Amino acid sequence: MEKMKIGVIGCGNISDIYLTNLREYANLEVVAVADLNHEKAVEKAEKYEIPRVLDVDALLADPTIELVLNLTIPAAHAEVSLRILEAGKHVYSEKPLAIKLEDGQKVLAKAKEKGLLVSVAPDTFLGGGLQTCKKLIEDGAIGEPVAATAFMLGHGPESWHPDPAFFYREGAGPMFDMGPYYLTALIHLIGPIRRLTGSARITSPERVITSEPKSGETIKVETPTHVAGILDFENGAIGTIITSFDVWGAKTPFLEIYGTNGSLSVPDPNTFGGPVLVRNAGEVEWKEVSLTHGSIENSRGLGVADMVNALREKRKPRANGELAYHVLETMHGIHESSVKGKHYEMTSKCEQPDAMPTDILSETMEG
Ligand SMILES: NC(=O)c1ccc[n+]([C@@H]2O[C@H](COP(=O)([O-])OP(=O)(O)OC[C@H]3O[C@@H](n4cnc5c(N)ncnc54)[C@H](O)[C@@H]3O)[C@@H](O)[C@H]2O)c1
Repeated sequence: MEKMKIGVIGCGNISDIYLTNLREYANLEVVAVADLNHEKAVEKAEKYEIPRVLDVDALLADPTIELVLNLTIPAAHAEVSLRILEAGKHVYSEKPLAIKLEDGQKVLAKAKEKGLLVSVAPDTFLGGGLQTCKKLIEDGAIGEPVAATAFMLGHGPESWHPDPAFFYREGAGPMFDMGPYYLTALIHLIGPIRRLTGSARITSPERVITSEPKSGETIKVETPTHVAGILDFENGAIGTIITSFDVWGAKTPFLEIYGTNGSLSVPDPNTFGGPVLVRNAGEVEWKEVSLTHGSIENSRGLGVADMVNALREKRKPRANGELAYHVLETMHGIHESSVKGKHYEMTSKCEQPDAMPTDILSETMEG
């Protein structure tokens, strides 16, 4: 099988794990990298033995590249994805799909017009942990889902990220930054959302960076830093999600699903592995369940490999654009509901992504 040639735009913090993992997949190869900051692209190309460092225009003009990874900052996602599609190439974007809903719509419309595919991170739900949870629900292990809770409570990225200002701009904050992992996992496990309500606040107008190299600099906070939402799923289940950069410590679970016959403890949806635990009706103990699927280490890039397979098999990628748009609308809806003081009715729909096959060498995506 010929490997699909892939280009990468954006060679910052997250590119390392992609460039490490993408070397392992049998169906693709990264042939070129680009970044507005040319030195960063040169550094990654040397480190990961990528043959070419190009500027963005040259990468988009290369006819051998079929698919481009957009690993730029959220504010650039839509513009860069539109350029990739305009150049006739499929796009896999880091999350979120876009900041504004209109821009997300433009990306999906452009892909449709050009007959190209859009796939969007996160791909953690393709890992062994969340795939095991999906199988348990589909097999009826907890009965019908009644409710779910999801918590991402922390104190923000300014203590570890080298350039954390963008986390406090429009289109970031705890919901836009971390919500996609939790919401994608919830939709993957329970289904699409019908309506929702939310409350959000900015707690401190400024944050002080404590990570290097910008330690001591202040960031003006332009987006809510504590965001709570109630989600009514189409199947009737009720979800509660809280994401925060204002919490110093909490003992809440990552994600739990409560069914008519038992409860499911879902692993951190920002990771690929377990543990997965079930507590059946009438029992007092949680029991750990063996994982049914592979890809349990940090497998960022698994969604790219699935997208390449999807192109070859003429199907939707599991982490597809419609799913990412539904997640984007949910995040906007929670913020909008807080401002307007009323429920938000969802306008978009998406399908629950199919389970990953178990009979696949999941580490390399070879059938
Ligand atoms: N850092 C993480 O741990 C992490 C984890 C998961 C997802 N993400 C997501 O990955 C994306 C990138 O995050 P990061 O932490 O790597 O950010 P970063 O700031 O470290 O890197 C982004 C890179 O994109 C480049 N860039 C920005 N605009 C560009 C443009 N128009 N054209 C070409 N290059 C451009 C920048 O020069 C920079 O090198 C974000 O969407 C983020 O949400 C990051």
